[in-house]
Amino acid sequence: MKKIENAVVLRNTFIGDNILDMTVQAPSVAASSAAGQFVGIYTGNGVNLLPRPISICEIDKNKGRLRLVYQVVGKGTEVFSKKAEGDILKIIGPLGNGYDIKNVDRSIFVGGGIGVPPLLETVKQAVGEKIVVLGFRTGTILRDDFEKTGAEVLIATDDGSAGFKGNVVELMRKENISGDVIYSCGPKVMLKFLSRYAQEKEIECFVSMEERMACGIGACVGCAVKIKDGNSFVNKKVCKDGPVFNSEEVLWND
Ligand SMILES: Cc1cc2nc3c(=O)[nH]c(=O)nc-3n(C[C@H](O)[C@H](O)[C@H](O)COP(=O)(O)OP(=O)(O)OC[C@H]3O[C@@H](n4cnc5c(N)ncnc54)[C@H](O)[C@@H]3O)c2cc1C
Ligand code: FES
Repeated sequence: MKKIENAVVLRNTFIGDNILDMTVQAPSVAASSAAGQFVGIYTGNGVNLLPRPISICEIDKNKGRLRLVYQVVGKGTEVFSKKAEGDILKIIGPLGNGYDIKNVDRSIFVGGGIGVPPLLETVKQAVGEKIVVLGFRTGTILRDDFEKTGAEVLIATDDGSAGFKGNVVELMRKENISGDVIYSCGPKVMLKFLSRYAQEKEIECFVSMEERMACGIGACVGCAVKIKDGNSFVNKKVCKDGPVFNSEEVLWND
């Protein structure tokens, strides 16, 4: 059940180019959070009233903490980047459906860019053999964290600065990666090509869509995504019905 809470910032440090790693004390929200869900963070600024959606990267229910990894792209995330230890951020959450983690032998996790963070908690909670494929334009984030989970971690970068030079789907084709289920999060174009790969290999695939949002709680249509419905489609809300969808349901050619 979602709650509004004054989260206390415990840590907020740069881990990459304009990317910050924040831990907040938010016991009420943490208690009901699941892998793949997100929180809305209020800017506290009257001009930017809408909460900004940020995925939950790690959940520590015992300590009542959430880890959030975010990129500074505009006014809201700029405000968050200035927060220091002890500062308060109003958050609403947990929001969205999250991943339905399957009890299978071999799971694949595919993340692109700032879509990588929510996969960390998902990998930690999954059972069986785990293969993580992460793609970036240049460099990496959270690589050590994924390696510490014991999963096999493969990296692709557009410029070849780390791992394979190319995108994640090209890397998966090269390595002929297969398994029982794929959990993914990243840019829509990556998810579209991954969905095609999963279909060819007959792997069930779940995609987390990070569409632009407005209210973030299902009260507008700011985040509509087209979901197949017979020969037609219906609009679903990423913030309420998603952000995670089965890739076979998504109408990719819009
Ligand atoms: C479910 C969900 C989970 C997300 N999780 C994360 C996360 O874990 N870490 C993270 O860094 N970001 C995440 N995002 C994206 C994040 O919400 C936006 O970057 C943020 O809201 C931008 O706020 P702003 O006020 O800084 O930028 P604004 O001033 O609102 O916008 C600045 C620029 O960013 C672009 N932008 C805004 N939102 C998005 C978006 N959703 N996708 C692409 N471009 C956008 C705008 O078009 C504009 O060019 C997530 C988005 C969704 C929907
Ligand atoms: S952002 Fe308003 S309904 Fe999803």
